[in-house]
Formats: sequence, C-alpha cells, structure tokens
Amino acid sequence: MKKVLIATEKPFAKTAVDGIKAVFQKANYEVVMLEKYTDKADFLKAVADVDALIIRSDKASREVIEAGKNLKIIVRAGAGYDNIDLAAATEKGVVAMNTPGQNSNAVAELALGMMVFMARGQFKGISGTELKGKTLGIHAYGAVGRLVAKIAKGFEMEIHAFDPFASKEAMEKDGVKVENSVEDLYSKCQYISLHIPATAETKKSINFELLSKMPKGATLVNTARKEVIDETGLAKILEERPDFKYISDIAPENHADLLKFAERYYSTPKKQGAETSEANINAGLAAANQIVNFLEKGDKTYQVNK
Ligand code: 3PG
Repeated sequence: MKKVLIATEKPFAKTAVDGIKAVFQKANYEVVMLEKYTDKADFLKAVADVDALIIRSDKASREVIEAGKNLKIIVRAGAGYDNIDLAAATEKGVVAMNTPGQNSNAVAELALGMMVFMARGQFKGISGTELKGKTLGIHAYGAVGRLVAKIAKGFEMEIHAFDPFASKEAMEKDGVKVENSVEDLYSKCQYISLHIPATAETKKSINFELLSKMPKGATLVNTARKEVIDETGLAKILEERPDFKYISDIAPENHADLLKFAERYYSTPKKQGAETSEANINAGLAAANQIVNFLEKGDKTYQVNK
C-alpha cells in the first residue's frame, strides 16, 4: 500500500483534509498526518517511509528529501515552491510539483483588502482615501496578478502591470496598461502589489532606489515573499518618506524596528494569503490528485524540477 505524508505546520481546513483523505482512500493509499509540528525531527521521522509528501510553506530541505528513502514525489499545495530544495529533489530522482492557480483568488482578495485597510487608516476611524481613480501597479502578471487586476477594476483603479514573461496582448485585453520596465511601473503607481516569486534574481530586488520612484502617498502591498524586499531599503524609505506605507502578509525580519512606523506599516501576525477553506480545498485536492495521477499513470504535469 502506498503511503502519503501530509506535513503542514499550518494545517489545512478540516473540510480540505477530509477531501484529501477521500482522494487517497479511493486510490487505496495510507495517509499520515503531521500537523502543527514544531520539531523538525518529527518531520524527518514521518517522511522516512512514505512514497509521497504534501506540504504548504513547510521546508522540504535536502535533509528532509534525503530522509525520505522511498520518496517519489513532493507536492507543494500552493504556488511558490521556494521552500523545496529542487536540486536535492532532482538528485534523488524525486518529482517536485506545485498547484498553480489553486489558491490565487484568496491571495488576490487579501491584496485588495490590504489596500483598503491602509487607505482607511487601518480601520481606526480616521479620515482616509479611496482606491477609486488611483493607479495600481501589478508587479508580475501571473495567476494572482491577473485576479488582482480583475478585482481592482471593480474599484475603478487605473491598472498598470510589468511582467516580462507574460503576454502583452493578454494584459492589454484585460484593460491593463503594460509597462516595459520595473522603474516605469513604480514611477507611475500609487499602489504596488507584489506577485513575484522569491528567486536568486528577485531576492532583495525591491530596494530603496526602486521604492523612491513611487509617487507621493505610495503604498506597497506584499502578499508574495518577504525575501524579495531589501529590508534596509524599506526601513530607509519609511524613515525618509512620511507619505510611504507598507503592508505585508509576511512579517519582515526587521518587524520590531518597523513598529515605530505603525501608522504606515502593518504586517499580519501569521501569513494568511491562502488561509481560506476554499483555497485549502482547491490546493489540497489538486495536490492529492496530482500525486495519484503521478504514482498511477506517471503524469508529470506541474513538475517544477525538470
Ligand atoms: C503560496 O505560495 O501558495 C502561498 O504563499 C501560500 O502559502 P501557504 O500554503 O503557506 O499559506
């Protein structure tokens, strides 16, 4: 009997877990749950004899991959797979996958909610501003970026985007103004919503110089990854520009230092972009089905370590 480990330090909603279990039950697989674990040793022990692994932001490090002696597939139930050591997976012949698009709506809704929250003085009853008529720059036009554009249209924002990998025609068709450089995007937009992955190229790329280009009354919204921010540059812009606001779903390393800007800075206590039962069900079921399809039919759609 094939064995699957679901290792989620931040567990899926119960409805999602029930759905995932049903997929594996139908395939006659055994499911092992490791939720809310705090000790890496527990993860290493649990992965030792499983064929497949489902994770969220949990770290599938080289150590974890090497501990999984029977491991054939890891599925990150979500979009970003910067938490999987892809080189180690490839070396060990383990297929790594994500579930693109499955939790995008939850993240996009949060990004817009964060804009409203900052525009309205963090709901503290003070006079704020409206999103209507403001310029919004979408930095990377993938599954989440597209949905942010769609929702922002309802707010009557003027939407710009920069993404060298996305189709210009598709962006224009969505009514989005296509920018040819990241500098142009930041220069024109009062709001910037980040949707870039954390890669060697993007890490620390959102720096003081780039943020300085944003117009007066700028708000940076981060539902992507903390690693893409140059945190020294972020602290500097908050210090030098009393009009600059930052809201993040992933607390920066220098969170405590930034609290002195609390009127213009906010970070959620725990990453919650994909924390909806809908997103958990979509991503969790997709992960389960991808595992069964791979182990039974060799289907490698969504493999990210090719
Ligand atoms: C993703 O990459 O899909 C999101 O960041 C969600 O991450 P989470 O599953 O840890 O909430």
